[in-house]
Amino acid sequence: MLRLEHAGRSTKWTSLGVEPLEERALLSNVALVGSPGAAAAPQDSTLYVRKNQNTLTDKEKEAFVNAIKKLKDTYTDGSDLSVYDQFVQEHHDAFTASEAHGGPAFLAWHREFLLQFEQALQSVDSSVTIPYWDFTVDNSTTSSIWSDDFMGGNGDPNDDNIVKTGPFRQGEWTLVLGDSTALRRDFGDLVPTLPTADDVQAAFNASNYDVFPFDVGSPVDQSFRNNLEGFNHSSGEAELHNRVHLWVGGSMDIDYSPNDPVFWMLHANIDRLWAQWQAANPNDQYDPESGAADGQNLYDTMNPFGVTPADVLDHFSLGYRYDTESDPGDSRSGGDSALALAAARRPPRSGFGSAFSHAGHGAAPGAGGEGFAASWAAVFAHAGHGAAPDAGSTGSIAASLTGLVGMSMEHGPGSFPGMGDSRPTEFVRAAMPEPAGGGGAAPPHVCN
Ligand code: CU
Ligand code: CU
Repeated sequence: MLRLEHAGRSTKWTSLGVEPLEERALLSNVALVGSPGAAAAPQDSTLYVRKNQNTLTDKEKEAFVNAIKKLKDTYTDGSDLSVYDQFVQEHHDAFTASEAHGGPAFLAWHREFLLQFEQALQSVDSSVTIPYWDFTVDNSTTSSIWSDDFMGGNGDPNDDNIVKTGPFRQGEWTLVLGDSTALRRDFGDLVPTLPTADDVQAAFNASNYDVFPFDVGSPVDQSFRNNLEGFNHSSGEAELHNRVHLWVGGSMDIDYSPNDPVFWMLHANIDRLWAQWQAANPNDQYDPESGAADGQNLYDTMNPFGVTPADVLDHFSLGYRYDTESDPGDSRSGGDSALALAAARRPPRSGFGSAFSHAGHGAAPGAGGEGFAASWAAVFAHAGHGAAPDAGSTGSIAASLTGLVGMSMEHGPGSFPGMGDSRPTEFVRAAMPEPAGGGGAAPPHVCN
């Protein structure tokens, strides 16, 4: 049986005693070994490519949409949430626990989240990758991303902003988590415009991956992460990532935002921008090693994935690249395919053990080459199995962030245990009615 070893996984990324590019190569280097001493011959790397959504062919769009819908209709043993909705739930849970937003792990957590979703898509159709949405270019309500053969358009302003066009229209795409059973969008209502190329450029001018206090209050002229995430801008408004959530509005404006499939394309673009920043800043891949909230430091485990930010810093080693990047394949060796490498380095998703064991793959973490991707294939042998999801709302409207467009921070020593000396104190509300059922305290994040 083949065994995969990740050379350098335990190497501290930030101990830059070596030349940065060499270190990246070290982290990327995966040695494939069979019986002791028998190394596989080097092969070309086979990174798959995430493309700009506005370059997709009709066939590629259809494949992406169909794979998403397949996940929505697929149940694993023992779960009454579809595979798709399990991702929605995961995002909600991480949001609630403040483990994936408002801190350094924001980019790392979503990188892993997208990777796992992409691998699920690929178990349906191996040709599919998550496209990215460059919202600085395709920035209008009539951009092709919103066409009837792709994401569908804006919600109906006369009917609760319910989406009634495209593959995810009412009746064709039912939400089981969140505040509505129909997908909702309200383009440009909470914020009038999408981020611009200048906004992105300003984020790239930040001098560090992240800086103290490593939360929503980190100064955006220094913290690339907080700038890109979109908090604490001098405009007083949500910017960049947060702003896109708000601009789309509706279902994208709450912690169940993956209910809107455009979520994946927004986050692919955010991930692409991080990769770009990483390439430009090889000496500052991640901050901090300690001092941020639990789950947000370089070697903290990110729930529910069981991987750390350090594990995902090199996205090439995870198996993909963006069409704006060249393939660094010449510097690596060994391996079947990059997907198989990425798949083998982690255990299958929790909760799918029974589906896996049906196919005889077991669910033992680190079991080797047959891991994640093969297990997903097993899941789909059981497509359609399982109880119908509860169509009811979870009643979590109180968690809705509708109307929250910004946040300011008050700094004071010891004011927020575990989060340094800062705490969220104030939300800046748009000229919006209170969220339905709202009123009380809002959660300390603008966006999701
Ligand atoms: Cu987001
Ligand atoms: Cu998120």
